[in-house]
Amino acid sequence: MDMGLTNKTALITGSTKGIGKAIAFELAREGVNVLINGRKEEEVERTVQEIKSAFPETSPQNATADLVDAEQREALFQKYPAIDILVNNMGIYELMSYEDIEDEVWEKYIRTNVLAANGLTKFYLPGMLNRNDGRIIFIASEEAVMPSGQMPHYAVTKSMLLSLAKSLSKLTIGTEVTVNTIMPGPTLSEQVYQIIDGLYSNEDMTFSEKEKQFMKTNLPQSEIQRFIKPVEIGRLAAFVCSPYASAFKGSPIRMDGGMVPTIF
Ligand SMILES: NC(=O)c1ccc[n+]([C@@H]2O[C@H](COP(=O)([O-])OP(=O)(O)OC[C@H]3O[C@@H](n4cnc5c(N)ncnc54)[C@H](OP(=O)(O)O)[C@@H]3O)[C@@H](O)[C@H]2O)c1
Repeated sequence: MDMGLTNKTALITGSTKGIGKAIAFELAREGVNVLINGRKEEEVERTVQEIKSAFPETSPQNATADLVDAEQREALFQKYPAIDILVNNMGIYELMSYEDIEDEVWEKYIRTNVLAANGLTKFYLPGMLNRNDGRIIFIASEEAVMPSGQMPHYAVTKSMLLSLAKSLSKLTIGTEVTVNTIMPGPTLSEQVYQIIDGLYSNEDMTFSEKEKQFMKTNLPQSEIQRFIKPVEIGRLAAFVCSPYASAFKGSPIRMDGGMVPTIF
């Protein structure tokens, strides 16, 4: 399916690894010129080159910046003042007990997972509204609507993104601009792969056997009983960015492998 995205420009935050990288690849596959972001110049440049050789007709660019730092965000705005698509993917996560989460940790999570994305959105949304064309996606998590209790500081930030997206969607009434949230369930990013592989490091098992064992023991509510592949989220994000998805307005879109047990 041609998604009608050729020659659009997209900034995908946190796109040197995992879900962000997969979204960047799937957008580039559709002819989008992707701006690759992460904090490490070398990793960003490596990803830019990978995408350039996979999709030579596109022009991937280097958008290295620590997005939690307002000055670095400002420098990025100077370099790329207008984009068609913003995917706020960058986010941090870690299992923690409630009693160990000090105020500094809460603040770090809110600054990183919410305020960085909000800062980018605040800058890019007005241009999209002026051009009557644009897409903003926040990557949340199933934790946004189904907190497991294993990372309350993280779950709160992801719930905030759902609310923010719906508030911002109200600013797009009557336009072709959309602001939505995608809620992935457990997804096999490099970081998740290493965690699962490390959990059974003493046992003679293939990764697939480890994955099955982990799912059965830790995530019995998952209906797919495997991790979601980053490319699956990437394909969904590309569709949500397409002109065919303009009726998604302020929607929380779930691709959670059946983790959330309710209908809505
Ligand atoms: N994996 C899952 O199971 C899962 C499930 C649901 C939702 N999610 C959400 O999906 C998103 C991506 O998760 P992931 O597992 O793919 O993450 P990941 O593999 O840890 O990748 C994170 C990316 O963000 C970059 N990054 C981190 N801090 C940054 C900063 N301050 N400024 C700019 N870039 C930064 C990292 O590069 P550098 O470290 O080099 O900067 C990397 O490119 C997150 O929002 C996460 O909450 C993940």
